[in-house]
Amino acid sequence: MTDRTPVLESKLPAVGTNIFTIMSGLATERGAVNLGQGFPDFECDPKLVQAVTGAMTEGLNQYPPMTGIPALRQAVADKVQAMYSHRYDPATEITITAGATQAIITAVLAVVHPGDEVIVLEPCYDSYVPNIELAGGTVVPVPLTPGTFRPDFDKIAAAMTPRTRAIIINSPHNPSGTVWRREDMLRLQELLAPTDVLLISDEVYEHMVYDAAQHQSAARFPGLAARAFIVSSFGKTYHVTGWKVGYVAAPASLTTEFRKVHQFNVFTVNTPVQHGLATYMADPQPYVQLPAFYQRKRDLFREGLKRTRFKLLPSEGTYFQCVDISAVSQMQETEFCQWLTTEIGVAAIPLSAFYREGFDQRVVRFCFAKKDETLQLALDRLAKL
Ligand SMILES: Cc1ncc(COP(=O)(O)O)c(C=O)c1O
Repeated sequence: MTDRTPVLESKLPAVGTNIFTIMSGLATERGAVNLGQGFPDFECDPKLVQAVTGAMTEGLNQYPPMTGIPALRQAVADKVQAMYSHRYDPATEITITAGATQAIITAVLAVVHPGDEVIVLEPCYDSYVPNIELAGGTVVPVPLTPGTFRPDFDKIAAAMTPRTRAIIINSPHNPSGTVWRREDMLRLQELLAPTDVLLISDEVYEHMVYDAAQHQSAARFPGLAARAFIVSSFGKTYHVTGWKVGYVAAPASLTTEFRKVHQFNVFTVNTPVQHGLATYMADPQPYVQLPAFYQRKRDLFREGLKRTRFKLLPSEGTYFQCVDISAVSQMQETEFCQWLTTEIGVAAIPLSAFYREGFDQRVVRFCFAKKDETLQLALDRLAKL
């Protein structure tokens, strides 16, 4: 008999506690306004809660179909068609997932074989790299252009090899707030056309694009749609990040492989929330009005920030606003964010956290998905800078 716990060789040796957890912990400890982690501090539409609780009281509480309930898959297919003029078959091409995070890892595990290369554009959402590593793939980071965060297609082309299995893109982009233009998507389509490279298009902020610009979903581009897993998140769209429900739209042959993995890593996604979402989606207004809702908050926040010495970067989409800190402080990004949280009482996230090698360009990210009074409190504190 031994009570020794066997020593593990970590599958993800580079992964530690992520910066969001660290900054949120520090914000709570210091009573700081938390503009770090990306989630709303306001309630969702009560109609959505009623629709979900209604489903629960009606007894819709057992396993749903593995791929998601038909009504929700249908609602998603209808929305995608209305917005992006591409019809996905709800039976064979739409799958409901436990948030976008599970959708992305499932797509990666379904297509990446050991030794395959996957291109990620840095800065990028923190799950992509470990997902690729868990699949045995090789991460090929390509930087977005520092300063503008626009894609550099020469660099992407140079990173492609016969071993490239997939590229992961994200527009509207977390953390920079950049939105890819039609020309960007056309360039990508042209670049991928002669290859078998798959596209994982993380579109969780699809309904947060400002100044009358349009979201350029991969679904709008037939050459991209034919090779893409398009990922979205109800959590972001309906202010319910804690519900962790999203979806993937992909051609039938890709969806078949996706569902093989989905079946064994989550199997199904909770039933009453799916029914509630299906009912709620009958009215497109909540997502149609989302750009105006968040643009007002963005503008309010930007106006206030203009009173500081931060240099504001554009925020074309998402609920993030990045600022250059050079005129305010000589500190590195992470040290600055810690200082800002403890001394000024506002939490932010360093952009270096979104780079594998921690590239520091003196830019930090604020989240403006907050009540006006929360934003105002943060702005009053930041006005000292
Ligand atoms: C770019 C990006 N992708 C995916 C996700 C995860 O979405 P979900 O909460 O639906 O898993 C987030 C959440 O912050 C995100 O910013």
